[in-house]
Amino acid sequence: MPVNLADHLCAASSSDAAAAIPVHVVAPDEVDARIAGFTESQKAWIRAQGFEGRNGELVIVPGSAGAVEAVLFGRGADRAVFDPFTPGKLANQLPAGVYRFAEGLADARLAALGWLLESYRFDRYKARKPAPARLVVPEGVDRDALIREAEATALARDLINTPSNDMGPDELEAAARTIAERHGASIAVIRDQETLSRQFPMVHAVGKASTRLPRLIDVQWGEVAAPRLTLVGKGVCFDTGGLDIKPASGMLLMKKDMGGAANVLALASLVMAARLPVRLRVLIPAVENSIAGNAFRPGDILRSRKGLTVEIGNTDAEGRLILADALALADEDNPDLIIDMATLTGAARVALGPDLPALFASRDEVAASIQAAGNEVNDPIWPLPFYAGYDQWLDSKVADLNNVSDGGFAGAITAALFLRRFVSPERDYVHVDLMGWNPKARPGRPIGGDAQAMRALFAYLASRYGAR
Ligand code: BES
Ligand code: MN
Ligand code: ZN
Repeated sequence: MPVNLADHLCAASSSDAAAAIPVHVVAPDEVDARIAGFTESQKAWIRAQGFEGRNGELVIVPGSAGAVEAVLFGRGADRAVFDPFTPGKLANQLPAGVYRFAEGLADARLAALGWLLESYRFDRYKARKPAPARLVVPEGVDRDALIREAEATALARDLINTPSNDMGPDELEAAARTIAERHGASIAVIRDQETLSRQFPMVHAVGKASTRLPRLIDVQWGEVAAPRLTLVGKGVCFDTGGLDIKPASGMLLMKKDMGGAANVLALASLVMAARLPVRLRVLIPAVENSIAGNAFRPGDILRSRKGLTVEIGNTDAEGRLILADALALADEDNPDLIIDMATLTGAARVALGPDLPALFASRDEVAASIQAAGNEVNDPIWPLPFYAGYDQWLDSKVADLNNVSDGGFAGAITAALFLRRFVSPERDYVHVDLMGWNPKARPGRPIGGDAQAMRALFAYLASRYGAR
């Protein structure tokens, strides 16, 4: 049974909410004033626990009959280092019951979102206990919008966490179909040989060595006359590296190489649920980068959809190949904005670590707005440049360009520059290079697959296009 995140959030008007246990979030210099109203034995209990209001510290305060009467949760002295999701950890730490945030939170909405995100379980292969504690939706917070964001995040997580044997191109297509149907979007899928006849040669080349057929998934939604927004997601359902095979350590997590596709599907579901006034298109090249006798090879030269010829310097730089054909298609109907999301390079992780997706934008104002939106919603993202000075690093002696640069410098930037070649220079274009995975647990962010930049981009799009 999948966890129903909505069950973890009580409406403020419900009978459960009236009896909810208060959670007091306190800084160290607020502890004395906060507990002044408690009984002597409660105060003694709180002191005996050594509670000082440090970041993440927790004390459960019993009433005289022994039931939970209140909760104290420390937020530390420095608001700047307090992750707004931190109180969400309580979902898994408190005994079963209904709780409410009493005061002390700069952003109760994000704390509640953290609570829901902390309540997520990936239980498809192993039963896992649901989070015991439920939360009353904080005052002034839109419960439905909060649940939509948590569910979109859970969708991205489920898609990424599902191992490749159960998440190949077929299953990714089925997931796209489910989402399209839910929102009344249309979906068309170009499969296998048709990727050749319909001119997606690089999608075909990368995906043909797998028994699970390559394809291009194309979802469309919204009024035809509205501004066109096209999302493109890297859907490599497993990345062996191809003939330039990855070492075992590098291959272990490569089920997550469809993290870009997972994120654009989740983002699309938010855009459609909010009914943003856009003509939305979602393009997902879905392939498995496998090894077989018919695999594409180092040194092969591919003729791309756009017409540019591409020399294969490394078969492990496959994401940019399939994205290039999808971006070329995206560019053809002159959209107002193209955004692609991809687990594109290890280099982006070296530069920014796992928590910060790299953001590339054809216009600096757009990058600044997306970064600011991300900070607002606790979904941070950091800009890197489409630095034209490195464009020539992709030169090839025998083709229009190589899929890798030699030298190994600035790998995230050269990958972004490769993609840029397949989009018109004047196009408003955003590229996000993300990890899609939490190697360590943080509040609201359990170990495993995760949405990244999805809420940042949604906040940006909501302000760019305005809700209806
Ligand atoms: N899917 C990988 C990128 C990746 C690796 C993302 C590890 C996150 C963690 C991509 O297809 C890839 O293999 N990229 C190569 C590019 C290189 C061959 C130029 C990389 O980053 O090593
Ligand atoms: Mn690769
Ligand atoms: Zn890859």
